[in-house]
Amino acid sequence: MLLFAASDKGGTGRSVTSCNVAFRSALANREVCYLDFDFGSPTAGAIFGIEGVFNGTRSGGGLHSYLQGRVANPERLDVWGASERSSLRLRPAGAGQLALFPGDASGSEFPTTAEMVKLCAELFLRLEEQFDVVIVDLSAGRSYATELALKATALPSMRKILSRWLVFHRWTNQHVNAAAGLVNNPGGILELGARCGHDRDDLQNRLRFVRTAVIDPFAEDISILRPSQIAFLRDSNAKLIELASSLRIGRTTVLAQIPLDPLLQWREQLISDNDLYERKIANQATVEAFEKLARDVIDDDAWEVLR
Ligand SMILES: Nc1ncnc2c1ncn2[C@@H]1O[C@H](COP(=O)(O)OP(=O)(O)O)[C@@H](O)[C@H]1O
Ligand SMILES: [Mg+2]
Repeated sequence: MLLFAASDKGGTGRSVTSCNVAFRSALANREVCYLDFDFGSPTAGAIFGIEGVFNGTRSGGGLHSYLQGRVANPERLDVWGASERSSLRLRPAGAGQLALFPGDASGSEFPTTAEMVKLCAELFLRLEEQFDVVIVDLSAGRSYATELALKATALPSMRKILSRWLVFHRWTNQHVNAAAGLVNNPGGILELGARCGHDRDDLQNRLRFVRTAVIDPFAEDISILRPSQIAFLRDSNAKLIELASSLRIGRTTVLAQIPLDPLLQWREQLISDNDLYERKIANQATVEAFEKLARDVIDDDAWEVLR
C-alpha cells in the first residue's frame, strides 16, 4: 500500500514520525520504503542517520532527477548498512527491508507536468509491488508534491492500488486549524483530489489525522508541573478537543496521538531499541505509539468507514 504523509505546516513532526513508523514497520518484518517527496527540504537522510545525504543525495540521481526525467531510476539507499548509527547498521534478525529514496541535495520545489505524473505513477506501481508499505513524505501545505500524489494516484493504472493519507499536526490552536484547512477548505486535499478524479467521500475515508508531540494532561509523569500548570494544560486540552471536533478533525478521524518525547524535542532521529532499553533516553510510550501506528496504517479495522 501507499501511505502519504502530509501536513499544512512545517515542523509538525511529519517526517520524524513517518521515519520512525517506517523503522518500526521494518522491525516488525514488513518490507518498507520511504520516498522523500519534501522537495524543498529533503532531510529524511538525516533522520535515518545516513552520512552524506542529510539534505538529500549529491549523486545527481535523487527523486528530483527521476521525476524531472534526468535518470531512469531514482537512487535507493538501504538504511540497514548505510546508517551511521552502529545500533542501526545491521538489519536485525526478522526485520524487513528499509529503503530510502532520497531527494536531490540541490533540488527545490517544482511545478508538476503530465510527464511527471506518469513517471510518479510508474514509480509508485513498481515500489508497491516490491514493498508492503511505501511511505511518501510530502512537502508541507498545498504543495506541488501533494498535487503530484493526488494526480498520480487518480490515474486509471493506479486505481487498484490502495493508498492512504495521514495528516500530521501539533496539538495547538494554529496547527489544528491549519490541518483542518489543508483537508477541508476550498483548494484543500479533498477538493483537489476530487478535481483530479478521486471520489471525495472515498478519499476522505482513506485519510486520518495524527496528533504529534502531545503532552497527556492526565499522565502521572506530569506531576512535576505546578498544579496551576496542570490545570491550564487540562483546560487547554479540553478547548482543543472542542475546536478539533468543530472542524471535523475530532477523535473519530484521528489514527494516532504521539506523545511528546524529550529525545525528539532535541534531536530528529530514529528511536532505536538501544535508545530505549540500554541508554534509557527515550520513553517507552513514544515507541509504543510508533509501533501501534505502524500496525494501524495497514489494519483495515482501524480504517472503518467514517460515515
Ligand atoms: N513526538 C515528538 N516529541 C517531541 N518532539 C518531536 C516529536 N515528533 C517530532 N518532534 C520534533 O519536532 C520537530 C519537527 O519535526 P519534523 O518531523 O521535522 O516536522 P515536519 O516534517 O512536519 O517539518 C523536530 O525537531 C522533531 O524532532
Ligand atoms: Mg519534514
